[in-house]
Amino acid sequence: MHKTIQDIINMKKEKKKISVITSYDYTLASLCDKSGIDVLLVGDSAGMVMLGYENTIPVTMDQMCMFTEAVSRARKNSLLVSDLPFMSYQASIENAINNSGRLIKAGADAVKLEGGSIMTETISAIVDVGIPVMGHIGLQPQTTMLSEGYKVQGKTKETAMRLIEDAKELEEAGVFSITIEMVSHEVAQIISETVNVPVIGIGSGVNCDGQVLVVQDLLGMYDKIKPKFAKRYMNLSEDIVRSLKDYKKDVQSGQFPTKENSFSMNDEELKKLREQIGS
Ligand code: KIV
Repeated sequence: MHKTIQDIINMKKEKKKISVITSYDYTLASLCDKSGIDVLLVGDSAGMVMLGYENTIPVTMDQMCMFTEAVSRARKNSLLVSDLPFMSYQASIENAINNSGRLIKAGADAVKLEGGSIMTETISAIVDVGIPVMGHIGLQPQTTMLSEGYKVQGKTKETAMRLIEDAKELEEAGVFSITIEMVSHEVAQIISETVNVPVIGIGSGVNCDGQVLVVQDLLGMYDKIKPKFAKRYMNLSEDIVRSLKDYKKDVQSGQFPTKENSFSMNDEELKKLREQIGS
């Protein structure tokens, strides 16, 4: 049985830190799941790291469902949360419920959406039909990117107060957890101590209840943006390029494939074939 929403909520109560990693495809998701990561997040960051868009805005519901299905085939142990992409929940509550349902049918255990107090009615409506919701405040790539770009949030008393209020209102609306992105670590700590639901930070310091990273950042596979807050645990892109160059050399020199990589015919059958074609 995989982790449940209640398991994740209990981790905060038991003061156990929660590990979250993004996943979009079967192969990497299998490895993330096997490594014991608590939550796999099918983030709309897929638009950038998987599809090569400049930002998350072009991501569609069909794409998110496809990524969610792939990850759900891989996961055995982790909780699976999927992002509602831009304009799949903002236009109407009906839209938000229908699209949340699509992600659940694709294999997600919960959905995540961006927005503070402005989204509380929508969140309550999704929760009311039985779909767990993770909130997302601080930097909200689907909208703040349009006006402000990548900027640390909550650096003044006023903006910090807004974030704290947003977090409280999301909790009241029924979220089971809140992601906070690029929030000053002091405010992130206050939020984590204020609400009862787990607060998952990205670029928001060590005092959150858990952390989330984009898997390509952690593995060193995506070079277009290198966020200061992401820790690279390896430089996989170097290893991949080196291996591909070695493969090309082997193909050119005839060192690949070897006998071990090939299949052979029965000697008797080969003899008969040669006789028939006269060679
Ligand atoms: O889309 C995503 O990957 C996210 C995380 C960065 C929190 O929302």
